[in-house]
Order: sequence, then structure tokens, then C-alpha cells
Amino acid sequence: MIELTAELLAWSARADDVLARALPPATQPPVDLHAAMRYAVLGGGKRMRPLLVYATGATFAADPTLLDAAAAAVEIIHAYSLVHDDLPAMDDDDLRRGRPTCHVVYGDAMAILAGDALQALAFEVLAEGTVAIDAPTRVQMLRVLAAACGSHGMAGGQAFDLAAVGQILDAGELERMHVHKTGALIRASVRLGALAAGCRETAKLGSLERYAHCVGLAFQVRDDILDIEGDAARIGKTPGKDVVDGKPTYPAILGLDASRKVLAELTTEALDSLAGLGNAARPLRDLARFIAERES
Ligand code: IPE
Ligand code: IPE
Ligand code: MG
Ligand code: MG
Ligand code: MG
Repeated sequence: MIELTAELLAWSARADDVLARALPPATQPPVDLHAAMRYAVLGGGKRMRPLLVYATGATFAADPTLLDAAAAAVEIIHAYSLVHDDLPAMDDDDLRRGRPTCHVVYGDAMAILAGDALQALAFEVLAEGTVAIDAPTRVQMLRVLAAACGSHGMAGGQAFDLAAVGQILDAGELERMHVHKTGALIRASVRLGALAAGCRETAKLGSLERYAHCVGLAFQVRDDILDIEGDAARIGKTPGKDVVDGKPTYPAILGLDASRKVLAELTTEALDSLAGLGNAARPLRDLARFIAERES
């Protein structure tokens, strides 16, 4: 089974620390809301999006302190998206990261508010935490994150997903849905890492864009496959839910073998796109392989 390298594990622990400090204490009123926010973010999760921020920054030898705010912000947005994704009005899931979902523990209303407050917190963290980065770059970073989670990004992708239930999508529509609902935040993670690191070279940014597009789509294709092949203990979610719900996933539309082929092609393209970035991009290569082969 593929494991994260020691370097990636260290960044994941770093992200956990930054997140624990960024979240309001659960003792501070309104205590239920703060407890729900902490529950949603802390105590689980692979921290893939922060890892992409740190790995992209490391490609340009950026000090991790420049990357902490962006790493925390993308994970906070991701956690909010999971809380809302699991609500009865959306995917209606009770298991997430091996524990009852946020709305099961805190109720639907508090889960909605926790998602709302987490989204706001992500922008606050990004705006405040990057004083070592010049103001125009910080504004650019805020815009990148906003675009990634709005109607042309993750939220738009979730709308495509809901509209697609019970439908037979063609390959282009399926890709559009995945590129938005999951790809947008993954692309933003790479963009934010590059911006925080001060990368201005068009060719390198273009390579990173291609990499991020491929791993973003690959991430959701693997998620779709794991819904079929995974077991609850490993994925920390209820498997088989996509079929029951009539979700148009890659395996549902193309079949498992063709989905595995798409995943392998996307991973090859992601690795190829890093060819010009040399040895420093090794953590990004490790992440592309992990995303393709992950079991959870
Ligand atoms: C699950 O994301 C939702 C998708 C976008 C596919 P992750 O697989 O990154 O979930 P955690 O953060 O590790 O729990
Ligand atoms: C989730 O896609 C995408 C977002 C949360 C934006 P899924 O609905 O497939 O994610 P899981 O399988 O519940 O983690
Ligand atoms: Mg969903
Ligand atoms: Mg879901
Ligand atoms: Mg899924």
C-alpha cells in the first residue's frame, strides 16, 4: 500500500498545528458552533490540499512559514465543503473521516453554520497570515481562493453534481463536474503555493497548471473508484453510496477498467508536466503517485 513520504507526513503534521491554532477555541461562545467547526477540521483527513501548497512552495525553495496561511485556508474551505456535502439535503452521509458526520453530531442547523463560518475563516486566515507576502500578491491569493470555491469553482461543481443525479452524462459533462467540484480547490492549492513562493515564471506556472488540472481530476476519479472498491474502515466513509444515490461517477459512466485507465493517463500527464521543474518538484511527483494509488 502506498504511504506518504516522511517529508509529506511532516508537512501534514505542520498543517494540523496551523489549523488547530487558526480555529477558535471550543470554550469560546458560541461554544456549539466553535466545537462543530473544530470537529469538522481537526482529527482526521489526509490534508492533501495543504500538502499540495507545501509541495508547490518547496519546488521554489519557499520557507514553509510563507505557505502556512494558504495551507490552512484551503483545508478549511475543503472541510466546510465536506460538512455541506454530507448534509441530508446533499449526499446525506453519516460517516466521514471514520466518525459520525458533523450534522449527525451537532444537528443540521449547526452544521450549516459551521460550514458558513469556516468559509469566512478561510479568507480571514489567508488575509491575515501572510504579512511576509506583498499586498498585491495577497489580494491575488484571496481572488484565487474565492474563484475556486464559488459558482465557477467548487460550489458550481456541487450544483452540477446535484443536477446530474440519475442522469447519464457524457464524458465531457462528467469531466466538467469533477474539474469543478474537486479540481478547482486542488488547482487553487497549487496556484496559492506558487504565488506564496513568489514564482513569476510563465513556463513554470504553465507546467504547474497542467499538473494541478491532472491531479485534481485524478483525485476525484480515485474517490469514485474507492466508493466501489474501498471498505468503510479504510476510507472512513460509507462505501457504495454513489451507486445507491444514482451519482454519475467515472465507474458508473465508463466502467471500472476504463476509469483506472483514465486515472493512469492523468497521472502520467501530471508527472510529465513536471519535467522542466527538476528535482525540487519531487514532493509534487510523490503526491501525484499517492493520489492515484491511495486506499483512503
Ligand atoms: C473527499 O476529499 C472529497 C473529495 C473532494 C473527493 P478527501 O479524500 O481529500 O477527504 P479527507 O480530507 O482526506 O477526509
Ligand atoms: C465531494 O465529492 C466534493 C466536494 C465536497 C466539494 P463527493 O461527494 O464524491 O465526496 P465524498 O465521497 O462524499 O467524500
Ligand atoms: Mg457529493
Ligand atoms: Mg459526498
Ligand atoms: Mg465520493
